[in-house]
Amino acid sequence: MSNIILGIESSCDDTSAAIIKDGILLSNVIAGQKVHEAYGGVVPELASRAHQQNIVPVVSEAIRQAGIKKQDIDGIAFTRGPGLLGSLLVGTSFAKGLSLALNVPLLDVNHLHGHVLSHFIKEDENTEVPEFPYLCLLVSGGNSQIIKVNSPSDMEVLGQTIDDAAGEAFDKCAKVMGLPYPGGPHIDKLAAEGDANRFKFSKPHIQGLNYSFSGLKTSFLYTLRDEKKINPDFVEQNKADLAASLQKTIIDILMDKFSKAIKETGIKTVAIGGGVSANSGVRNAVAEYCERRNIKAFIPKRSFTTDNAAMIAIAGYFKYLAKDFCDINLPPFARITV
Ligand code: KG4
Repeated sequence: MSNIILGIESSCDDTSAAIIKDGILLSNVIAGQKVHEAYGGVVPELASRAHQQNIVPVVSEAIRQAGIKKQDIDGIAFTRGPGLLGSLLVGTSFAKGLSLALNVPLLDVNHLHGHVLSHFIKEDENTEVPEFPYLCLLVSGGNSQIIKVNSPSDMEVLGQTIDDAAGEAFDKCAKVMGLPYPGGPHIDKLAAEGDANRFKFSKPHIQGLNYSFSGLKTSFLYTLRDEKKINPDFVEQNKADLAASLQKTIIDILMDKFSKAIKETGIKTVAIGGGVSANSGVRNAVAEYCERRNIKAFIPKRSFTTDNAAMIAIAGYFKYLAKDFCDINLPPFARITV
């Protein structure tokens, strides 16, 4: 008997729905929200309203593209958190309503587990998936963590940021350079043209496997300042070199602890996930490091790095197989780690 899981993601500013049948992806529909562009960041109230407008058409389209009927769905997976509470409430309430209407179980998914398990999204029977245990570098706008993944339901955080996340370092530095939000992809693009050794920014000295990015942010800001103000001419003339040097420093910080974790655990399978894993430099650095040491690296397709419901559906699929269903009264949550 086959299992069909509908995944729903609404934790931030993307409304997404996906259908997975026996672990194979049939559809993954994502509606972004342009409304935030004018504000230089996500406005929570506007995000919730846009989710309300998008949720029905996005779920209907995912069902249509999958070539199934809604009555074929066996379980509904939804992002329970972390994220923006108002946004999460839209997806959570919709999932609960549909589970009642279809009389199928609900599967609550931690958004971070979705990123970590995104490597199990199969686009066909031949997609290769990681073996357990594997080490995952989870780098997004809100998190930077090194996670030992023992099974779909057993994950240990070996290290994490004590202040800003890697994505925040990209976005905040990009903002002071006057680049649009989110700045990460713009830095990535500019970095390709620049000299990564031109500027030196400070790197943290933190014990163990934890990260810190706030010192880098401050030293970047000071490089751009002339007296007490940012010098726009300096930024304009040096933007490619600034971007390349910033990106290199972030990668060095990430790889320093990730390589330490690989050595300490002796684990030979690694993966990356989260929005920052779309970064060309991060992808190359992990791939090259692993290739030289005969370590198997899973680098996600770019469409699975940012928020998507396919990863929620696959995480829900594992829970469905384990009969780990959730109660209809379960509320969403805004914050937690893995
Ligand atoms: O996982 P994600 O979509 O969601 C949140 O955590 O909110 O990650 C978004 C983050 C943003 O900080 C964005 O700038 C960053 O991922 N990002 C990138 C790139 N693409 C997205 N950072 C660097 N290079 C990229 N190509």
